[in-house]
Amino acid sequence: MDEQKMKSGSWWGRRSRRGKLLVIAIAVGIFIVALGLGLGLGLGLNNGSGGDNSESSTTPASPLPTAPTNGSVYQPPVNSTWQIVLLKSINVPDGASSVVPDVGIFDIDLFLTPKSTIDTLHNLGKKVICYFSAGSYEPDRPDSNQFKASDQGKGLKGWPGEKWLNLNSDNVRSIMTSRINLAAQKGCDAIDPDNMDAYDNDNGIGMTQTDSINFIGWMSNQTQSLRMGLGLKNAAAIIPSVLPAVQFSVQEQCVQFSECDKYSPFIKSGKPVFHIEYPSEVKSNFASNFCKNDGPANGSYEFSTVIKNFNLDGWIEQCNGATSTTPT
Ligand SMILES: *[C@@H]1O[C@H](CO)[C@@H](O)[C@H](O)[C@H]1NC(C)=O
Ligand SMILES: *[C@@H]1O[C@H](CO)[C@@H](O)[C@H](O)[C@H]1NC(C)=O
Ligand SMILES: *[C@@H]1O[C@H](CO)[C@@H](O)[C@H](O)[C@H]1NC(C)=O
Ligand SMILES: *[C@@H]1O[C@H](CO)[C@@H](O)[C@H](O)[C@H]1NC(C)=O
Repeated sequence: MDEQKMKSGSWWGRRSRRGKLLVIAIAVGIFIVALGLGLGLGLGLNNGSGGDNSESSTTPASPLPTAPTNGSVYQPPVNSTWQIVLLKSINVPDGASSVVPDVGIFDIDLFLTPKSTIDTLHNLGKKVICYFSAGSYEPDRPDSNQFKASDQGKGLKGWPGEKWLNLNSDNVRSIMTSRINLAAQKGCDAIDPDNMDAYDNDNGIGMTQTDSINFIGWMSNQTQSLRMGLGLKNAAAIIPSVLPAVQFSVQEQCVQFSECDKYSPFIKSGKPVFHIEYPSEVKSNFASNFCKNDGPANGSYEFSTVIKNFNLDGWIEQCNGATSTTPT
């Protein structure tokens, strides 16, 4: 119980970065060897600028589904206010007349949250995004025993027991279809499937950008027919490929890593960027650093920024400087 919590917490960005550097190092190494042997492998390395496209191919196997614009699929507006709590189920009593903070959208754990909580949030005029991990095996979920050993790759650094998943496995896809259907049954307006950037990490099972792109397209077909929105978690490198198939971004630490600009195509497409920063020391007065479109936060115009604790508990600081704690 104390472990699924840290989910999607602070180690994400650092883990991703390390993976990215490793991929670049390997790619450069292969390139040099190839040159030396005169093999002319034509690896097509992308030069400079962060190396997000360190793979040569991002061509999806099948066309990505674009959501209809007639309102049948939930599309949250740009600059929406939101709260994210994944540590525990939030505690909103049946019949509650308000919820703290009074934001428009709640991103909460699919498995931990009862349908009654989602119904209550809807009665209060809120929208609900349901979080689950789509790209990793976690040991403590109700359906964890359905994963096969052959579905699993290397462990996620910093997350004991959690493993990268083979996104092309029929068994993995069947489990994820059940999770998507559970979200629909609980009345979630959208899903926030985590760990879509195995390609950027030492995943041990050869997952590439193309695998992530195809998987997101595959999820999008399902969420669209269920009228739910679909989010892209981090994964900046594949934004150009999957943007038409998703309705929003959930993004961690772009100010910390000065890369908010990479997510701005969402805003330009009329889709929100739900942006989380995890400041390390004190628990307040960060809004002025993280909520301006300038300096390390350059490119974050109209992002939906929240300041959270690493463990994604109920505490939040919003961009207006207000702090509050959603009961859990
Ligand atoms: C919106 O478009 C989709 C796809 O064309 C269609 O299936 C759906 O029935 C439409 N919904 C409304 C409310 O018009
Ligand atoms: C975004 O929303 C906030 C309220 O949450 C509002 O103060 C601000 O003016 C909005 N920004 C734009 C550009 O509309
Ligand atoms: C989505 O569904 C359409 C229509 O069935 C299909 O042509 C397409 O290949 C699917 N895309 C993915 C990525 O599964
Ligand atoms: C912010 O980014 C824009 C491009 O998105 C660039 O033109 C501008 O110079 C940047 N400003 C700063 C202060 O880095």
